[in-house]
Amino acid sequence: MEVEDLPSVLAIESQSFPNPWHESTFRGEIQHRPISFPLAVVHSRLNKVIGYIIFWQVGEDVQVNNIAIHPDFRRLGIGEAVLKQVIELVRWRGARLVTLEVRPSNTAALSLYRKLGFKMMGVRKGYYTNPPEDAFVLSLHL
Ligand SMILES: CC(C)(COP(=O)(O)OP(=O)(O)OC[C@H]1O[C@@H](n2cnc3c(N)ncnc32)[C@H](O)[C@@H]1OP(=O)(O)O)[C@@H](O)C(=O)NCCC(=O)NCCS
Repeated sequence: MEVEDLPSVLAIESQSFPNPWHESTFRGEIQHRPISFPLAVVHSRLNKVIGYIIFWQVGEDVQVNNIAIHPDFRRLGIGEAVLKQVIELVRWRGARLVTLEVRPSNTAALSLYRKLGFKMMGVRKGYYTNPPEDAFVLSLHL
């Protein structure tokens, strides 16, 4: 992901989350390389950003901070393919544990994570705002 991708990324973000990240947060992730990995998913034929994933790797620990696919390109296997590739990448880079937070109401994301083997690690009470909701913390041991 580069700064010039941000208009497309922000459009997807606002269509994907009730409390979308601000542009400054994405800029921060871009600036925090190499701890942060902000990756854009580009449609090869349309040459257009259709999704992104942002994760941090610190040693053996990986935290997935954001993943979204443009609504027009969902349910095509792209989110799963992206997450699988990231898991292989971080495994190759020495990761042992991948964690992430998800709203209990986000059945699509929960289903994706469970399909890839993530397990329930805990609950963060009142983690989300707008609307308020706990977070499920999921983890995958590599
Ligand atoms: C979650 C998200 C990234 C999934 O991306 P996607 O490309 O549509 O997902 P895929 O097509 O790769 O689906 C893979 C698996 O995810 C699950 N899944 C995806 N969308 C689903 C839906 N609407 N309902 C139920 N399960 C769903 C299924 O298990 C699916 O496997 P299957 O096709 O064998 O049933 C996408 O829905 C999205 O961008 N949502 C908004 C942002 C978001 O919620 N991000 C996660 C924050 S924690």
